[in-house]
Amino acid sequence: MTAFRSSVPCRQRKYIISAVLIIGCFGFFLVVQQTANSAEDYEKEYPLQLENEVLKICNENNIDYRKSLYTSALYDTTDEPSTTQRNHHHHQQQQELQMQLPLSNGTEPMIYFVTPTYPRREQIPEIIRLGQTLMHVPRLHWIVADDTDSCSDTLNRHIRKFGIPYTQIASPMPELYRARKNAPRGVANRRAALNWIRQNQKKAGVLYFGDDDNTFDLKLFSEIRTTRKVSMFPVGLIGDYGISTPIVRNGRVEAFFDSWPAKRKWPVDMAGFAVSLGYLALSPNATMPFKAGYEEDEFLKSIGLKMDDIEPKAHNCTEILVWHTQTKSSKSPTVRISMDRQKLDKLNLGALLHQLESMGVNHISNTVGTIAQAIVNGNVKPLSVWFS
Ligand SMILES: *[C@@H]1O[C@H](CO)[C@@H](O)[C@H](O)[C@H]1NC(C)=O
Ligand SMILES: *[C@@H]1O[C@H](CO)[C@@H](O)[C@H](O)[C@H]1NC(C)=O
Ligand SMILES: *[C@@H]1O[C@H](CO)[C@@H](O)[C@H](O)[C@H]1NC(C)=O
Repeated sequence: MTAFRSSVPCRQRKYIISAVLIIGCFGFFLVVQQTANSAEDYEKEYPLQLENEVLKICNENNIDYRKSLYTSALYDTTDEPSTTQRNHHHHQQQQELQMQLPLSNGTEPMIYFVTPTYPRREQIPEIIRLGQTLMHVPRLHWIVADDTDSCSDTLNRHIRKFGIPYTQIASPMPELYRARKNAPRGVANRRAALNWIRQNQKKAGVLYFGDDDNTFDLKLFSEIRTTRKVSMFPVGLIGDYGISTPIVRNGRVEAFFDSWPAKRKWPVDMAGFAVSLGYLALSPNATMPFKAGYEEDEFLKSIGLKMDDIEPKAHNCTEILVWHTQTKSSKSPTVRISMDRQKLDKLNLGALLHQLESMGVNHISNTVGTIAQAIVNGNVKPLSVWFS
């Protein structure tokens, strides 16, 4: 924190509305002055009333190109010979499939699924996995807010291909927070998504914060879609209990089970609740503070949540429909290739390595890193030896 303080130049990126940030920096400076440099910093800091500075819409698609997924045609195709027996079996299977795949008549409340993401080598694989889950969810608008200054074309290409209505936003974390030991990741992104919802006057539907490193059971979506105010449900793989969940008795939420109480009024995971937009609209000042660990709690306080407003979902919170899977993150390796780029491009490796580099999975260098070698009949030699 000391090192940070000397380097806290309130240096803003040019598109950030500077006045707001200067006030924010100044406010933060005061907070820094007042709090001791200890591990408890983040428990003591109070949320700053920084208005959302950045709402940079990169790409948007409001048309659902996935409709074919929900037509019965999907289930009718079979290349097997049809006998009465098979038809019976086929019919049964079809019914089971339809129970799993949520069908839509096109009038259900929209789900606004907000995914904060940030550039790292696992970003694109995570987005592909999540996109393939969301492909099965009708009436869903995917808001992907990236922690970057500029719009990522690579990210857009991978979102667009699913055919899901989406909005891609570039919403960088303000520099003053980025330098913190316990940086509040994903907050600028979720705030940007909240701004998008307000600016677009979305007052019907359901808001859900779904991170890119979670696993979602398709049933979750039909559960949260009927949220009247705020719904809550268990999240697996959280903390020292392996779960974070409301405690439900007689169909009512009475308490919470979470291994990190931390004086939170609403000790829940970000993926453990959904909010109806009608209810959210009643709190025009609703926001999420840049306060690591307290984002859920402060957000739910800011919408004036009361215990009686909470609807337990997932069969009175007895089912786990969302998991905080997390993907282990590791550093991008550098691959050393001293070969001419044009020669490399004559091999498939040129295209492959270029793609990986654009996704941040690895770096290519001609001077440092792990030497790129090829194996021919068990003989290992640098690529340049075999393919120059
Ligand atoms: C569409 O389905 C929902 C339940 O999934 C139902 O409540 C609604 O009445 C249906 N609307 C129409 C127009 O069929
Ligand atoms: C939840 O519990 C209440 C009270 O016991 C019961 O009436 C309700 O049917 C339960 N809900 C589900 C989905 O099982
Ligand atoms: C929102 O904040 C403004 C300014 O602080 C305040 O005047 C207003 O009463 C607040 N509105 C609600 C609904 O809390």
